Amino acid sequence: MSTRTLGLIGSAAGGLERIRPALIEPAIARGWQVAVTLTPTAGTWLEATGEIEQIEKVTGQPCRVSPRLPSEPSPHPPIDCYLVCPASSNTVAKLALGLADNQALTSVCEAIGGQVVPVVVFPRINAAHARQPAWNSHIEGLRSAGVHLLMGNEYWPLHEPRSAPGKDLPWAKILDAVDVIVPGQGVSSSD
Ligand SMILES: Cc1cc2nc3c(=O)[nH]c(=O)nc-3n(C[C@H](O)[C@H](O)[C@H](O)COP(=O)(O)O)c2cc1C
Repeated sequence: MSTRTLGLIGSAAGGLERIRPALIEPAIARGWQVAVTLTPTAGTWLEATGEIEQIEKVTGQPCRVSPRLPSEPSPHPPIDCYLVCPASSNTVAKLALGLADNQALTSVCEAIGGQVVPVVVFPRINAAHARQPAWNSHIEGLRSAGVHLLMGNEYWPLHEPRSAPGKDLPWAKILDAVDVIVPGQGVSSSD
């Protein structure tokens, strides 16, 4: 029986197409229940490939893209840890600024401010994204708010745009980091 729930947030960046086999199924095998929320663009990408249906099948949870109606209850269980992976440069910037104009950002912005549920972010970016003048201040802001950023050569060496990195995302390393932050047998906190 799962004792921890991972709120997996997917944005429109490389690796999104592999989150079910590479992240969700291994997380379930490690004892996590997984509740997935996608940004609107990520939702269109995975809808087009039929992956949303597959994700709902393996997680047993609705894959959220749109916000609920005020009259509807929250469709996901309480979350023990948010993992934003892959995080596009756009989603990282919006999180740093507290912009919550979609369901994925709404959940994570609230967790960052709530300071109860840990937030882990894997930015899947290239060297041009990192040279954007606001990038460093976004990262510093998120770090000072306690967000766990999985960055640097050990996670994702930066490549120039349109020069394929030729490697997969470090999925197991990302899950290892989440497992350290919220070890098994954790107690659920409400979202
Ligand atoms: C095929 C394709 C691949 C992309 N890969 C990335 C990526 O790896 N990292 C990134 O930051 N943006 C990437 N982008 C750009 C984002 O999809 C774009 O900035 C989008 O607005 C992000 O939306 P979201 O953050 O709301 O999901 C890619 C776009 C396309 C069309």
